[in-house]
Amino acid sequence: MTQYTVPRGTRDILPEETTLWQFVEQKAREVFALYNFREIRTPVFEHTELFLRGIGENTDIISKEMYTFQDRKGRNLTLRPEGTAAVVRAYLESNRRNQEPLSKLWYQGPMFRYERPQAGRYRQFHQIGCEVLGAGNAYQDTEVIAMAQHFFTALGLKDLEVHINSVGCKICRPVIKERLKSFLGDNLDNLCEDCRKRFETNPLRILDCKNPKCNDFFVGLPDISSVLCADCKSHFHDVQDYLNILQIKFKVNPRLVRGLDYYTKTVFEVISGQLGAQNAVCGGGRYDNLVQELGGPALPAVGFAFGLERVVLIMQNQNITVPDARPYILLAPLGENACGRAAVFAEALRHSGVPAEIDVSAKGLGAKLKSANKLGVAYVYILGDDELLEKCGQLKNMLTGAQEKVAFTDFAARLQKNYQQDRGEK
Ligand code: HAM
Repeated sequence: MTQYTVPRGTRDILPEETTLWQFVEQKAREVFALYNFREIRTPVFEHTELFLRGIGENTDIISKEMYTFQDRKGRNLTLRPEGTAAVVRAYLESNRRNQEPLSKLWYQGPMFRYERPQAGRYRQFHQIGCEVLGAGNAYQDTEVIAMAQHFFTALGLKDLEVHINSVGCKICRPVIKERLKSFLGDNLDNLCEDCRKRFETNPLRILDCKNPKCNDFFVGLPDISSVLCADCKSHFHDVQDYLNILQIKFKVNPRLVRGLDYYTKTVFEVISGQLGAQNAVCGGGRYDNLVQELGGPALPAVGFAFGLERVVLIMQNQNITVPDARPYILLAPLGENACGRAAVFAEALRHSGVPAEIDVSAKGLGAKLKSANKLGVAYVYILGDDELLEKCGQLKNMLTGAQEKVAFTDFAARLQKNYQQDRGEK
């Protein structure tokens, strides 16, 4: 028989792990709401053209990582490799600007990039991201960084670093590129193939090269920040001021450039020492030209996205555990006659908000108590023929081992009360 496997670069997320995922998703929802972000959901695929225009034709994502296909009518479509371009498209298409001067949107979902899979890098991965459209002030850059930091702290993640840089704007970017090119030009033959290609197409990205041989030739690189125009310089200065005011620790990393072409001014990443080569858990920045590039007005914007796989990996590495939602009680009918009665109790408990499981197997009491232990339930309610006659079951406290008779008429209310008390509810 053929044994089917998941496609390369994708993975199943099994129940032991989905608990962590749900916790992360819930925390993001809570924290993002504190900052007045509202959720937006866009399709998993878009017209290919959107990403070509939005992300930049010379980026790795566009040149070699897209999942592109034609539908039955010959339309060129692409599974989204990221969320920003699609959010901007939806923002423009729904005319949100007419409804609110500033839009604060967040999103989550799977993204697709044909990358070489390795730890923390997948072909289908999941992001949670946010975009602020309509805000050019440096405060807004800082606010999204503060929100990312708030969120990671709420998860209990440790040892993360915020790295920031400025990649300039339409005015100073060409100067930055020229400075880089004239600095590296003499050593071009010594650089790796990727760097040589980027030298022509996207010289800023050379700064991102991890090849140690290339790095030798980067010593003494011109400092981008010294080449920034006055506007970009003062913006970058203000972002740092705000970060200091909010006591957010950060490092200025002059070699931080991002893999997408739409960024202007501030770029940032949250880096973890525990992710190996794929050490960025979150990345983002300002993109003041993208809205116009995609057919809208000139409108400044800023945002970030983090990778859920990487966040969960760090949580596992740092032994961060979250409460697992388990049943509170196991109904243990012994014999066929008791099964119907137990089923009615289980359903009544569930309707009153108490998580309940029932074991209708033909196993004996010993085996049922064993599985109750495995499930981690607080109580087992035992119903045999005698109990049916007496209309009174045996309630076993699995923590203390104590067992007492509880009448059918009292059972549901009693369990509900215990459950609420155990959860600290009144
Ligand atoms: P990005 O840096 O390409 O930015 O991705 C953001 C995060 O997604 C990364 O820091 C990483 O955690 C995760 N990630 C990216 N690729 C993979 C992969 N192949 N496998 C696993 N995780 C991955 C963006 O996508 C921008 N749209 C972020 C943004 C929003 N900028 C402004 N607004």
